[in-house]
Amino acid sequence: MSTAQPVLKLGEFKLHKKSGKARRATFMTAHGSFETPTFMAVGTKATVKAMTPEELKDCGTQVVLGNTYHLHLRPGEKLIKKMGGLHKFMNWNGPILTDSGGFQVFSLSGLRKMSEEGVEFSSHLDGAKYFISPEKSMEIQMDLGSDIIMAFDECLQYPATNDEIKRSMDLTHRWLLRSHKAMTRDQSLLFGIVQGGLSLEHRKYSLQQVTSVDLPGYALGGFSVGEPIHLMHELLPDIAPLMPENKPRYLMGVGTPLDLIISIDAGVDMFDCVLPTRVARNGTLYTWQGRMSIKRQEYKEDAGPLDPECDCYTCKNYSRAYLRHLFLSGEILGSRLNTIHNLHFYMTVMAKARKALEEDRWESFRDDCLTRFVRSDK
Ligand code: GUN
Ligand code: ZN
Repeated sequence: MSTAQPVLKLGEFKLHKKSGKARRATFMTAHGSFETPTFMAVGTKATVKAMTPEELKDCGTQVVLGNTYHLHLRPGEKLIKKMGGLHKFMNWNGPILTDSGGFQVFSLSGLRKMSEEGVEFSSHLDGAKYFISPEKSMEIQMDLGSDIIMAFDECLQYPATNDEIKRSMDLTHRWLLRSHKAMTRDQSLLFGIVQGGLSLEHRKYSLQQVTSVDLPGYALGGFSVGEPIHLMHELLPDIAPLMPENKPRYLMGVGTPLDLIISIDAGVDMFDCVLPTRVARNGTLYTWQGRMSIKRQEYKEDAGPLDPECDCYTCKNYSRAYLRHLFLSGEILGSRLNTIHNLHFYMTVMAKARKALEEDRWESFRDDCLTRFVRSDK
């Protein structure tokens, strides 16, 4: 908001506006506040690939995400703690959210052995054996000095049977109770994660379990696990509004620009996804005209910017022909310039969404985005 805001307390979520289910708010962490809806830049290994913190800020980044699983394996949370914590280690002084490792253990590591106690797994780096429990995940995230700590959960793959989903939700709930007990750091805020696959009944059951613990925020996990995306689009407007009104709602691991607009409209406040940074390095760019691939022949002699409607550093200074050349030559600058654009684009979509909400024109902004993004989205 343009007017001066009163300073919020740690963990306070101040709602400014609503339009239908969509919300505009501010959330306070130990490293300052951020404005929602927000997209968090993924910095898995204590770096948002190819970007300095200054460049992240220039792109409009408010929150950076780190990963328990990766940082535990390398360089180890004890080293990061010794170096003054994750903020100091990576020179990012804004809010940091860390994921608990639950998801990454299931998607990345080799051989796993699940038990009530936790997950034993072998590292994707060298095969060495590790064990992460809810207590261990909390210890790692507290050592990192994270502002927002995610509960240790199980993220089921799609599809799963009713019995599997039920067993998994109950386990995730017992793990939440243990996470809550083990998270003892005053400056960190613990978020619980709702699971339950793609049925509303399961989601409601999990939401009931998770919200039985009073926490400063709640997340929706278990999406982007191989399900057709329309199932998530259909479920979100039913489940997101049932989450506590006065707490942030975080949709984990989502998504495309189209997904973001649809999810904001359903009442989601926070997002993270590797998509904009990952595909940038493969030459895929998101623009106000849709998605484009910079390697295409048609850009060979194109002197125009990537996106004429974008005012990022890349679009202000470089041509499509040059970016195509960098990409085809495998030049590292190509990855950097493409990442700057994609992150700036995502952050601009969110900033425009916030402004539209503030100015009571969310619906027309949403519909304009849907028209622009549907054409080129998956
Ligand atoms: N990232 C994307 N989905 C998930 C999830 O279900 N759980 C966790 N911990 N992280 C995620
Ligand atoms: Zn740009």
